[in-house]
Amino acid sequence: MEKVLVVDYGAQYAQLIARRVRECHVYSEIVPHDKPVSELAAERPSGIILSGGPKSVYSPDAPAVDPELFDLDVPVLGICYGQQAMAQALGGDVARTGVAEFGKTDLDVGEPASTLFQELPVEQRVWMSHNDAVVRAPEGFRATASTPASPVAAFENKERGLYGVQFHPEVSHTPRGTDLLKNFLYDACDLLPAWTMTSIIDSAVDSIRALAGSERIVCALSGGVDSSVAAALVHRAVGRQLTCVFVDHGLLREGEADQVEETFRRHLEVDLIHVKAADRFLERLAGVTDPERKRRIIGETFIRVFEEVARDDLEDARFLVQGTLYPDVIESGTRDAARIKSHHNVGGLPADMKLTLIEPLRNLFKDEVRRVGEELGLPEEIVWRQPFPGPGLAVRIVGDVTGERLAILRSADAIVLEEVKRAGIAGDIWQSFAVLPAVRSVGVMGDERTYGYPIVLRAVTSEDAMTADWARLPYDLLEAISSRIVNEVPGVNRVAYDITSKPPGTIEWE
Ligand code: XMP
Repeated sequence: MEKVLVVDYGAQYAQLIARRVRECHVYSEIVPHDKPVSELAAERPSGIILSGGPKSVYSPDAPAVDPELFDLDVPVLGICYGQQAMAQALGGDVARTGVAEFGKTDLDVGEPASTLFQELPVEQRVWMSHNDAVVRAPEGFRATASTPASPVAAFENKERGLYGVQFHPEVSHTPRGTDLLKNFLYDACDLLPAWTMTSIIDSAVDSIRALAGSERIVCALSGGVDSSVAAALVHRAVGRQLTCVFVDHGLLREGEADQVEETFRRHLEVDLIHVKAADRFLERLAGVTDPERKRRIIGETFIRVFEEVARDDLEDARFLVQGTLYPDVIESGTRDAARIKSHHNVGGLPADMKLTLIEPLRNLFKDEVRRVGEELGLPEEIVWRQPFPGPGLAVRIVGDVTGERLAILRSADAIVLEEVKRAGIAGDIWQSFAVLPAVRSVGVMGDERTYGYPIVLRAVTSEDAMTADWARLPYDLLEAISSRIVNEVPGVNRVAYDITSKPPGTIEWE
């Protein structure tokens, strides 16, 4: 498969560049900047993009670029730091011009017929973030655009296939940035927009078949997006060789277990083992109020249940499907490692099951996974599902998890989701859900005094769950949610809205 490598110089932009390239239907992967040129060459890329980075090229610990990179006969585009590193490696001059440019900047295209700027306006807005700038292009290069503080805001050497821009074409504040990337990909690299959902699915299907042969494959299905799409993809490849195990811990939201049955057993005709283990989980959780203990018990019980199924029904399985995504792959050891550890996610499987992993989504970003899911015919409710913790509603019940309290939370939560959807703002919200605290208070209903639970409504906007803000839900929506919950859910007499951002709050209550 033809691909473009994005060399990561340590700014937050490498992922964004890779995503933009993929939006242009060209496959791209991120590689660390210290990967030797010989290894880059061995991957036979059709193009290389050098990302921006936080360092000055003059700082002693700045990551250098090996000049041999430019002799591979592979087109290279340097962005920001990448452009400066390219200029420096090839004999141009980079200097601190004294005028830093941050934010929207007017670009003056001096050479509209140049490769990168063909068919783009000669004056355009671009987004800058730099102190240093290329002040003299290397020999053989032409400066093709400038800004007030960057005389060489873009350069190119068409014969050698080398290009650079000081600004960030990958960010949305550079409105024509994607067109510039397309010029690099389709013209300079001579690529075709061939990486499509169909081609992704076809090549995943081929490699799963080649790997698994006629062996049995198992997948632990949670009902979440990643495991659902991974299962559907593997099923497309090997049909009934795949067995999905759905451990229903009884902590799912209303209708979710039915949805899994409906989608996988009835619609996709997947061989599904649905283990209804709610009673067992509830028994183990009885009287437990400490949140970390709850998580541990759920994780352990999950493994026990899975072990039993494995022993009784899956002896011959050789492969295990896992819904690992690309961000987990590139960030493992850093941010995500910390996140996963603190959550003791359900889905950890018995270590003594000697299974080889199949990770059909490990090259994909979340939005790509969702599109694959749609293409495979999974329903919207699964593909566009909000993030949901592995330990389920147990982390949204403060205090005792009992059948009765679960029923209260589940009904209230269903109302929240229904009303948010009805208001047409589900797409703007990262998560919206109900929480059941462990206090009760006095209310009055009709002529009667009540003594019931409050429901806490939590709705947040977020990019990645690392930080979040409480959603400014319209009053009408708050009103509808509150009155429906109090009227329809027995045992609840108040609704409160959590207006805490993260930090200092977390998204979940536990
Ligand atoms: P917090 O509460 O830490 O949550 O702000 C951040 C994000 O992680 C989700 N979350 C989990 N996801 N397993 C998961 O897969 C878990 O155990 C878990 N706990 C929290 C949470 O819903 C939010 O999106």
